[in-house]
This record gives sequence, C-alpha cells and structure tokens, in this order.
Amino acid sequence: MPGDKSISHRALILGALTVGETRILGLLEGEDVINTGRAMRALGATVERRGEGAWHVRGVGVGGFAEPASTLDFGNSGTGCRLVMGAVAGCPVAATFDGDASLRKRPMRRLLDPLERIGARVMATGEGGRLPMTLQGARDPMPIIYEPPVASAQLKSAVLLAGLAAPGETTVIEAQATRDHTERMLSHFGAELRSETSGAHGRRVVLRGQPELVAASIAVPADPSSAAFPLVAALIVPRSELVLEGVMMNPLRTGLFTTLAEMGAQIEIVSRTTEGGEEIADLRLRAGELRGVSVPAERAPSMIDEYPILAVAASFANGTTRMRGLKELRVKESDRLQATADMLRVNGVEAEIEGDDLIVHGRGRVPGGARVATHMDHRIAMSALVMGLAAEKPVMVDDSAFIATSFPGFVPLMQGLGADFG
Ligand code: S3P
Repeated sequence: MPGDKSISHRALILGALTVGETRILGLLEGEDVINTGRAMRALGATVERRGEGAWHVRGVGVGGFAEPASTLDFGNSGTGCRLVMGAVAGCPVAATFDGDASLRKRPMRRLLDPLERIGARVMATGEGGRLPMTLQGARDPMPIIYEPPVASAQLKSAVLLAGLAAPGETTVIEAQATRDHTERMLSHFGAELRSETSGAHGRRVVLRGQPELVAASIAVPADPSSAAFPLVAALIVPRSELVLEGVMMNPLRTGLFTTLAEMGAQIEIVSRTTEGGEEIADLRLRAGELRGVSVPAERAPSMIDEYPILAVAASFANGTTRMRGLKELRVKESDRLQATADMLRVNGVEAEIEGDDLIVHGRGRVPGGARVATHMDHRIAMSALVMGLAAEKPVMVDDSAFIATSFPGFVPLMQGLGADFG
C-alpha cells in the first residue's frame, strides 16, 4: 500500500520548518506530494531522495522560509497548496501559488480570512479569490483564536502552520473533529500543543508559537484512503480474500471501515501495532453480501475522501444506502457528489442527490459497460475501475492520468490481484 498522502505532505512541510535533518521512510511518491517537496525546495529547504527510498529534509527553522524565485505549482493538490499557504503566511516572504485547472476552481477564500487575521496580505488572486494567488506573509504574525466555518483539516492545519511563527497561543476550535496528523506531527517535532474535546463532536487545539522544531524521523504508514480501493474490490468480487498490511487506523480516518462493517462486510483486524505515533493494522477482507445502511453526517470528516468508493460498495449491496451531509464533496478535486452520482447512473445504478445527501439503491448487481467522466479526479477514476471489476460489463474511464497524484502503483497492484485493464 502506498504511504499516507496527508502524512507525507506534512512530513515534508514540517521537516522544512525544523532545525536539522528529518528522515522520512515510506513517503508517498505521488505527484501531489512531489509538488509539495518542490515547493519546500523553492522556499529554501533541502529535500533529497537517497538510497533505499528514504527522503531527507534539511529545514530552515520556523519563520525561516526564503522568498521563492518562481511560482509554486501544486498541480492537482488542495492539501499541498493550502498547507503551504499557511506555512508561508507566517514568514516575511511573498509567494505565488498556482495549480492545474481542477485546483484553480477550488475555494481559497475560506483560508485567506484567518491568514489575513494572522497578518498575511493577499496581493493578487484569480477570479473569486481563487488561484493563481500571490500572498505576502506576515512580518509580525499575530496569534488568533479561530473557529473554522467548515470541517476541514486543511483549514485547521494552515492556521496552525501560520501560528507556528506567531508569539503566544494560536487556538483552533473545531465543531467537528478532523484528521489530526498536523497536531501529532507538531508534537513529534517538539512543539507545545494541547488538544482536548470541545462539544459533542469537536476539538480545541492550542499551539504555543515560536517553538524550535527539532528534526526527527518519520515512518509514513499505509494510506487508508488508498487502501479503500483494493479493500472494496475484495468485498465485491465474489470469492476474494485479501490481506492489506500496515494500514493506518487513526480513528479520524476510519469512518469507511466502520460503515462497511455496518453493511455486513467481513473485515477482520489480524494484528495491530503503533508506529510513529499512529496505530496501524493488518486487515483481512473476504467477499460477501452487503446491505444498505444510513451513514450519519457526523461521520463525514472521518471518511471525507471515501464516499465515491463507498458508493461503489453500496451499488453492489442489497438495499438503499443514504450518505448524509456531503456538502464538502462539491469542492474536492471535482464536484465529487455529482461525479459520483453520474458514475453510478451511467453504469445502470439507481442513485440520486437530495440536498447534500447521496442515495444509492443497491440491487446486488451492477450492469456496467459505460464510460465514466473523471473530471481530473483520481478518486473517481479508481472508484470507477474498481466498480468494473465486479460489474457485468467492464467500466471505462475517460482519463486515468490523475491516479498518479495519490496512488502511482494502483494499476500494477490491481493487476497483481487479478484485475484486467484493457
Ligand atoms: C486532507 C484533508 C481533507 C481531504 C484531503 C486531505 C488533509 O480535505 O479531503 O484529501 O490532508 O488535511 P479538507 O480538509 O478540505 O476536508
């Protein structure tokens, strides 16, 4: 399984803000993460791949970024772009951020509000506050108390990364807890950070600014969001049995596993350990009957990237699956709510969008045979191809190039499991 994308981005960015040399094992070598590595180089850090696949980052220290000579291009990656915007916002340098046609459509204004409060200035933006954008980082960053208007780990992380350079305490109060890799890694590098529950589903994170981050090793565990594709393939292709090794089980990432278990999936945890501050497990999957379920909106942050592949599993289930509260899916690499519904419908599955909910009427079988529009979205492409493994007729995608952003080994890995790509 490829390394976790969220942790890989953070390892490069935080490594670049430490003093000393950070060694990263298992870094995801997908296009998104490679672009973040390039940005760190442009901002003055040394980023190198050495023997046996280990990556080494020599940092510049908190607040120490140099002004980049050219535009920072994040390709397809919202995470890379937004996290680096946060890190740059706390440094007295100007940088221009850009990306591909998909990233240029995604909202950035939500991020600029807190970064401007911290002291960054927006010098130029594309239409509607979108990319390309030039940001002047703060000379004297201010600590803020921030309550994100949407559940977004990218937003939270950008504010914490900017707050690193501010004196005093930067606080983020989330109404709904999102993935906490930034917090865990900040603590790992020696920052003083407190995280406590807030309300029914939220967290309050307090970071003491201007720490000296000290380089440390990082072992990147396997990405549960990537594991989701072979995992669902094993559940829907009759008579399959598969073991996935070393999958990260951070509870803020495992909503899909919970949901599939409620659908009747046979997912057995065969071993569990902790590595680099994250719990990891080997999972044994066996194909079997699935039933429709209702997925509560509160679960969305812990499986935000998994709805397209869950919708595929729901198509092969018996009964209706209702996935609630998916508004954020509209602003991912594509309008993923619409793209997922379209992927199912063209392949003969009955599905509808009701407000922010996706409803899939599973009939235990999928006719397939259609070509899916992927809209520059890696997760739509992989979901459609997994659907094709168990559909009555093969499923085609209009473009498989974006799979390399997060899962460059997807095709050979699936071929190794018996998939036939034409
Ligand atoms: C990510 C956060 C999520 C997720 C993305 C990775 C991260 O985005 O969709 O793939 O690494 O912080 P949002 O924070 O915008 O929900």
